[in-house]
Amino acid sequence: MAEVLLVGSGGREHALAVFLARSSQVERVVTWPGNAGTPNNLAMDVTGKDNFEALADYAEQNRIDLTVVGPEAFLCAGIVNTFKRRGLLIFGPTEEAARLEGDKAFARSFMKKHGIPHPDFSVFFEHDEAKEYLLSHQEGRIVVKASGLAGGKGSLVCESIQQALEAVESMMSRKQFGSAGDKVVIEEYMEGEEASILILCDGRKALYLASSQDHKQIYDGDRGPNTGGMGAYAPAPVVTENILKRVDEDIVQPTLRGMSEEGFPYQGCLYVGLMISKGEPRVVEYNCRFGDPETQAVLPLLRSDLFELLYAASEGDLRDIEIACHPGSACCVIMVSEGYPGKYENGKVIKGLNKLESIDGLYAFHAGTTINERGEIISSGGRVLGVTAMDATIEEAVKKAYLGVEKVQFANRYFRRDIGHRAMGRTQ
Ligand code: GLY
Repeated sequence: MAEVLLVGSGGREHALAVFLARSSQVERVVTWPGNAGTPNNLAMDVTGKDNFEALADYAEQNRIDLTVVGPEAFLCAGIVNTFKRRGLLIFGPTEEAARLEGDKAFARSFMKKHGIPHPDFSVFFEHDEAKEYLLSHQEGRIVVKASGLAGGKGSLVCESIQQALEAVESMMSRKQFGSAGDKVVIEEYMEGEEASILILCDGRKALYLASSQDHKQIYDGDRGPNTGGMGAYAPAPVVTENILKRVDEDIVQPTLRGMSEEGFPYQGCLYVGLMISKGEPRVVEYNCRFGDPETQAVLPLLRSDLFELLYAASEGDLRDIEIACHPGSACCVIMVSEGYPGKYENGKVIKGLNKLESIDGLYAFHAGTTINERGEIISSGGRVLGVTAMDATIEEAVKKAYLGVEKVQFANRYFRRDIGHRAMGRTQ
């Protein structure tokens, strides 16, 4: 029986922990640092790249069979390289392969080189050059991205050239995102509908999890500032069989071939963010990890053994493995602290979680939660938890998820009331 070490502390990691633990091959999942929902949290003070060795020491000394990494920051900083160098099995891309997320200029140039559908773009290393380019550009929406990791906040859709100039100034001169903004990518704004595809890769073969759609903005109707994600549903009806075939042929296979040719075979979860317009998918972004909240909606639909999939992908051999999903849909509603993504208060006692346990197909995945000295579960972050429901149709999954949300109470809770609106708009 296997011991698994899971790295991370969000809703994504709690969902991974739940479904890894369901495997008949798994004895125990240990999480670092984890949250109030994840079992067997490791109390270790590990920060920064050098301390990947400390986690590898733990894995070695405790005979961990597989380590699974959630957050991009660890992957982009090379945790997989450290573990592989020490002969430890780990699920995730190497630092070099994780550049698909960690270096957006590299990712766009890679797409161009390998003929993968993408928007027009230019890369700038100097503020003056970016400014000159924008001033010669025709008026209209345009996207400005910090090339490095910026905690999901580094991609700005600008409504005018003036706004784009301000974004570039703030990234390149005022260092809003530190060194992540030393290089910026300015690109065409793409119209259409977004979707997320999570793919398990062994370097050559790709296995697709259910397609999904995130809801990035804080308010109903997709208004207000962007967040880490306010909810998700799966599968996403916008991703038809035909779109999926195009995604595989035009995006995923060339990505895996291209990464191998570049000398960085991609092993781990590849997240392709798509923009679909008139039946044509183009890449918004690659991420080098499971999406959050998408994973909270996608994993309950997975019928296959998650541990077996991640283990085989990490060993570089998915050849004999296929993936099976449950029929039906899943919907995840994220409950946040009022004020998020701006300032908010922590420490609110969360009640009612036990009421969800008796309802079949309903999950509460913890994110920003911890346990206080009285043993109560309290909020400790912007995104507090995700309530996911699975049911036969998207309408029923949405209804059940909101039934669950109503049972979970904390003082400053906020959630969107329209998760799934696009999918339901299609079926009505
Ligand atoms: N849901 C967006 C992300 O995981 O980056």
